[in-house]
Amino acid sequence: MTTEDWHDRWANGRTGWHEPDGNAGLKRHWCWKSGSVLVPFCGKSPDLAWLARRGHDVVGVELSEIAVRHFFAEQGLEFVTDQEGSLTRFSAIQLPISIYCGDYFSFKLSSFDALYDRGALVAVDPLIRQKYAAHTRGLLKSAARQLIVTLEYDQAVVQGPPFAVTADEMSALWNDLERVAEQDDIDNCPPKFLDAGLTDIKEVVWRSVR
Ligand SMILES: C[S@@+](CC[C@H](N)C(=O)[O-])C[C@H]1O[C@@H](n2cnc3c(N)ncnc32)[C@H](O)[C@@H]1O
Repeated sequence: MTTEDWHDRWANGRTGWHEPDGNAGLKRHWCWKSGSVLVPFCGKSPDLAWLARRGHDVVGVELSEIAVRHFFAEQGLEFVTDQEGSLTRFSAIQLPISIYCGDYFSFKLSSFDALYDRGALVAVDPLIRQKYAAHTRGLLKSAARQLIVTLEYDQAVVQGPPFAVTADEMSALWNDLERVAEQDDIDNCPPKFLDAGLTDIKEVVWRSVR
């Protein structure tokens, strides 16, 4: 997927990955209540508001301005904007949430206390996965808490996105996470996966070793 492909997806409402009620794995396995949280590739996920209501200062980064505006409208939040280099920051008035609109790889704010990644690592092309992981780790404090949601399925049956990330790849990219949960995700996978004959796909939650 190129950046143009993502913009087209938002312009045409082809956002099948979106979970209107947020991610169940986040709610079940996030065990922290304060500090700043980085949410790369945040889309219009209500998870941003869930994290803010829990006590975090939340910073999302999202390419599509359509997604960002939808987020604030759907959450009933007012916002102000300002320019931070090549990215536009949308800051909510009623909750501690900012979304930087632009390319994640141009986002430079650092020293985050925590990371929440659902739909980011699995969205990047495997060829730039290492670059994504290195950039993300560089934005976090060394002891940052992390929760990453991945997908596991047979990539020989169908190609992503969303891309499969094996347990071995996760260990190579993030050696300080443990696998805390997995669940069958066949009911939520893209139609092209079912059309290709995929019968088994798991959503996996990885979390910092405490
Ligand atoms: C699969 S969606 C996941 C959205 C969200 N995390 C969720 O769980 O609903 C991936 C998102 O990443 C955004 N995106 C893709 N490339 C990006 C980039 N280079 N910088 C910032 N956002 C990007 C897309 O516009 C899209 O909204």
